[in-house]
Amino acid sequence: ALKIAVIGGGSSYTPELIEGFIQNYSELPITELYLVDIPEGQKKLEIIENLVRRMLKKKEIPISVHVTLNRREAIENADFVLTQIRVGLLEARAADERIPLQYQCIGQETTGAGGFSKALRTIPVILDICKEMEELAPDAFLINFTNPAGIITEAVAKHSRIKSIGLCNLPIGIKKKIANYAKTDIDNLAVEWVGINHLNWTTQIKLHGKDVLDQFLNNPAGEDSFSVKNIPDFKWDEDFLSSLGGLPCGYLRYYYMADKMLADELEAEREDGTRAEVVKKIEDELFAVYENTELNEKPALLENRGGAYYSLAAVNLISSIYNDKKDIQTVNTQNNGMLKFLSDDASIEINCVIDSQGAHPIQIQSDVKPHMIGLLQIVKAFESLTVEAAVKGDYQTALQALNLHPLVTSVTVAKAMLNDFLKEHERFLPQF
Ligand code: G6P
Ligand code: MN
Ligand code: MN
Repeated sequence: ALKIAVIGGGSSYTPELIEGFIQNYSELPITELYLVDIPEGQKKLEIIENLVRRMLKKKEIPISVHVTLNRREAIENADFVLTQIRVGLLEARAADERIPLQYQCIGQETTGAGGFSKALRTIPVILDICKEMEELAPDAFLINFTNPAGIITEAVAKHSRIKSIGLCNLPIGIKKKIANYAKTDIDNLAVEWVGINHLNWTTQIKLHGKDVLDQFLNNPAGEDSFSVKNIPDFKWDEDFLSSLGGLPCGYLRYYYMADKMLADELEAEREDGTRAEVVKKIEDELFAVYENTELNEKPALLENRGGAYYSLAAVNLISSIYNDKKDIQTVNTQNNGMLKFLSDDASIEINCVIDSQGAHPIQIQSDVKPHMIGLLQIVKAFESLTVEAAVKGDYQTALQALNLHPLVTSVTVAKAMLNDFLKEHERFLPQF
């Protein structure tokens, strides 16, 4: 038997995941699939349930689907628990994005103040899930997609005994895009990363064993195809890019072009609302499409979301654990000495060998530049303080964390934002 529990099963991304399970059923023969959600998500969960059943039926895949609001029932004896939750729903995300903008700071759901706020709400819920796993499925793997995925991974590793891996779609997405750009197959590429979730550089690109990174760093035109749906794809400065020593991930625009990104966010917010509000509209359309009983596959409209290739990343990871594959994938896990300039218990995003025991980081070979070390140390200190603040519910630690973030301009601003977040999300922050 192979039991998978998806917490946040009513998410609009679930059909993407199911498509991955269907395509890989022969190597990942799931017997029991539990989709669980909260009462507020029941309507969406029902729509997803019906679509999932139609998708499985069309392809004659014999996975037994269970839909429940009882999380313990879903977790009990699971082999894998997948978390894709959004505490406070999109409404809370909109507040996380809008509050910083009111103080002329980047308003983004994972990067900067917004990610901090999301972490405070999310960590207690994830740690509750871990406690239930310790009791009901102690050997299961927790596969977390919930953002901010790097901070959540660190919280789980520090505060629970559960085996857990944090997953983002960017590594596989970037690899796919590099392959497309080089007009080759992903299997001909070896790519190395340096960094943490949503803050990293591709520092080595080997095509058939030959280093081709410079071709990318000296050809910013190629950059255009590397963006994700949720981040504007402003071009990098050419002199800057060619001296970076690695291809920056899209989220680095918030650090390297903070002024331009802020101006863009403010304008976009005035015109269409924050990204959460844009996503809400896409979601409403998506669920209207999902409800159509003729539909029995993942609709193309889902591609307007930022999570492209998310199912591929998830299924690759679960299958490699289940089949003890020992292949290489980029995931979020504990540093344990891989990046010497960060503490051992920090979470990092790194190439790992994936086997039945989990993720084993591979020592980085590429040259880590001082500018990378500097930015990573400061943002990691922010992340670790955020974990501590979220777990203890400590106001002063929270203030230290938020102020430290490079995209937060002063203590005055940090304090005002922190107070706004605590007030706005009070019912999700019992620890404060
Ligand atoms: C990227 C990130 C994800 C994030 C998503 C947001 O793909 O890697 O972590 O959840 O974008 O997309 P959305 O459509 O919700 O703005
Ligand atoms: Mn991500
Ligand atoms: Mn600061």
